[in-house]
Amino acid sequence: MSLGVGDLTGVRVLLGVTGGIAAYKAALVARLLVHAGATVDPVLTAGAERFIGPATFEGLTGRRVRTSVWEDIPGQTHVALGRAADVVLIYPATAHTIAKLAGGLADDLLTTTLLAATCPVVVCPAMHTEMWQHPATAANVATLVERGVRIVGPDDGTLMGGDVGAGRVSEPEDALAAVHAALAGRPDRAGGDLAGRTVVVTAGGTREPLDPVRYLGNRSTGKMGVAVAKVATARGATVHLVAANVALPTPDGVTRHDVTTALELRDAVLGLVDDADVIVKAAAVADFRPATVSGTKIKKADGIPTIELTRNPDVLAELGARRDGSAGGTPVGQPGSPLLVGFAAETDDPERHGRDKLARKGADLLVVNDVSRTDAGFATDTNSVIILGADGSRTEVPLATKEQVAGHILDEVVARLGDAGPTRAAR
Ligand code: CTP
Repeated sequence: MSLGVGDLTGVRVLLGVTGGIAAYKAALVARLLVHAGATVDPVLTAGAERFIGPATFEGLTGRRVRTSVWEDIPGQTHVALGRAADVVLIYPATAHTIAKLAGGLADDLLTTTLLAATCPVVVCPAMHTEMWQHPATAANVATLVERGVRIVGPDDGTLMGGDVGAGRVSEPEDALAAVHAALAGRPDRAGGDLAGRTVVVTAGGTREPLDPVRYLGNRSTGKMGVAVAKVATARGATVHLVAANVALPTPDGVTRHDVTTALELRDAVLGLVDDADVIVKAAAVADFRPATVSGTKIKKADGIPTIELTRNPDVLAELGARRDGSAGGTPVGQPGSPLLVGFAAETDDPERHGRDKLARKGADLLVVNDVSRTDAGFATDTNSVIILGADGSRTEVPLATKEQVAGHILDEVVARLGDAGPTRAAR
């Protein structure tokens, strides 16, 4: 799997290997990273050295393998390695190392280096199922996720001793994909596979006023849309963020257009459509608005109000209709007919509703979100989605950070922009 952020030439990866049977697979990870062009600095814990020797990593990476904080005191190995790394990958990560990271302990070279590193960190846990499911491990993992650490896996499978269950280290290819995704969020990785493209992203939730102080709104915070905007910029796109009541900061390099209501959002998007190669509609747009807005505050002394609603335009469906020419608009592949990505927030049978919505709205891709889960959907930092394609494709993204999910969505976009021909690229 590729996240489409190009190769890893010039990228320094600190590969932390800790003491588990899965340490042997770290050799494959080292090889994949080197093949992708990365410079890999392996750091082995004492436990890792019992499972696999430094010579293997030295041979694969062509770099000195570090194992001790006491090796080069004047050179301050931990600080130097921490500062130099563009990304840290810990593969495999034992329950003990995860606990040390969560607690900020620094009793060996790897954990000391981690405290000195400010770059993205990817952790691939591996342990017995009971250890993975222990509340202490779960709490430590949650702490790391909250800090922005990307946790990849563990997978289900055969564990040491023949046991079967959750706890098997994720596959080397998945670790590599996570490294790509981690780097995709960095502004200095621009010039990627969306270079020359213009991406419009809607984010947040619209508010439909009832009177000067009240509105009908929804729980969307804009995190998912902002993550898409951030990753798209990092991958080289010119990005316009149409932000409906979003309290989050604007990612570097993104042009923001603040809106409040569905009608304002529609105007902003339609004003940008002619220049857009891609429109990602992550905003939760109100389907209805009060038919009349009171000019003065509605007073309770006047009795219980009856609020009559009227329909808002469906912006995504409108864009979809323009594309197939049915609204007298522009056919697919021409300026003004961007690739359309919709979102669907569902609480029951998400996939069936998603397929319906995809067809009904004429989008190319639909990202289906089960908002009844507590670890995905509104206001969370993680999400788990299914990306449905009008071409029948189906990509499941298990629980991941919203930036990682954004990376997967943009992979699907990039794959389809290739088919859209040179029309837009040539403009
Ligand atoms: N959308 C839109 N304009 C609207 C409502 C929704 O552009 N008035 C877009 C959203 O931005 C999203 C997609 O349509 O990308 C699906 O939104 P959702 O609220 O799930 O769909 P609805 O058509 O409102 O369906 P439901 O009946 O489930 O509310």
